[in-house]
Amino acid sequence: MTIILDGKSLRNKILSELKNKLDKFEKKPTLVVILVGENPASKIYVNNKKKTAESLGINSIVINYPDNIEENILLTKIEELNKAPDITAILVQLPLPKHIDKSKIINTISPQKDVDGFTPYNFGRLFEGEEPFVYPCTPKGIIRLLDEYKIPLEGQHAVIVGRSNIVGKPLSQMLLNRNATVTICHSRTKNLAEITKTADILISAVGGKIIGKNMLKSNCVVVDVGIFKDENGKTRGDIDFKNVAPVASYISPVPGGVGPMTIAMLMSNTVELFEKTIK
Ligand code: GUN
Repeated sequence: MTIILDGKSLRNKILSELKNKLDKFEKKPTLVVILVGENPASKIYVNNKKKTAESLGINSIVINYPDNIEENILLTKIEELNKAPDITAILVQLPLPKHIDKSKIINTISPQKDVDGFTPYNFGRLFEGEEPFVYPCTPKGIIRLLDEYKIPLEGQHAVIVGRSNIVGKPLSQMLLNRNATVTICHSRTKNLAEITKTADILISAVGGKIIGKNMLKSNCVVVDVGIFKDENGKTRGDIDFKNVAPVASYISPVPGGVGPMTIAMLMSNTVELFEKTIK
């Protein structure tokens, strides 16, 4: 029988544990989210982050800049936030408009306040197999979800489809640190199905309908990180859920799988950064 990896329930459990912890803190952490432009998906994500933070008692500040903002203004704001003692965590919502150098912006965030774990220091620590200040939220959420269901990672062949800095690359390192055997596939991979069929754990993070039933071996674990609206306006993931679910041992749904876990891990990272400043 296929087991659904229920990210929503686990999110609720994690948030309630975080709330209990936060209730005992005299001072609360502050999360700043910088949003540039009017990307509708980003606006929804940022709003969710703000609402979730506030429900836990985390102070939440959203700074919204117009699409044509100058890079220097963003850099100056980040430097100001880096120095502000009351600011715990800084997140710059991606994607950024093309005229802004994403890497320059991320490099400016202080690693101690880098709640995404995307700065070169934190990324470098992860790739060294050493502890960063925090781990990137989506990969951390995926591993937390797999751990909740006691899915073994050691020695397993994990195939990741997608090589982004947000998911594919950091997830590959986190799985390696857990002794999985990891293959990363991407848009130029030849014979994708031949590789995905060898996966014990298949993780798709592409944002397009690509993974069908004929691309995996039976009883594999399937994690769907993709999320987009299809031609009928329905929210869906990369995996053909209806046909894949019956042959998988575990599968994460969209919505209700990885998405809620990402938000939970953002809250957990904010609290971790806060606890490190207290220490
Ligand atoms: N855009 C999509 N996912 C993410 C994320 O995890 N962090 C940031 N900063 N932007 C995103």
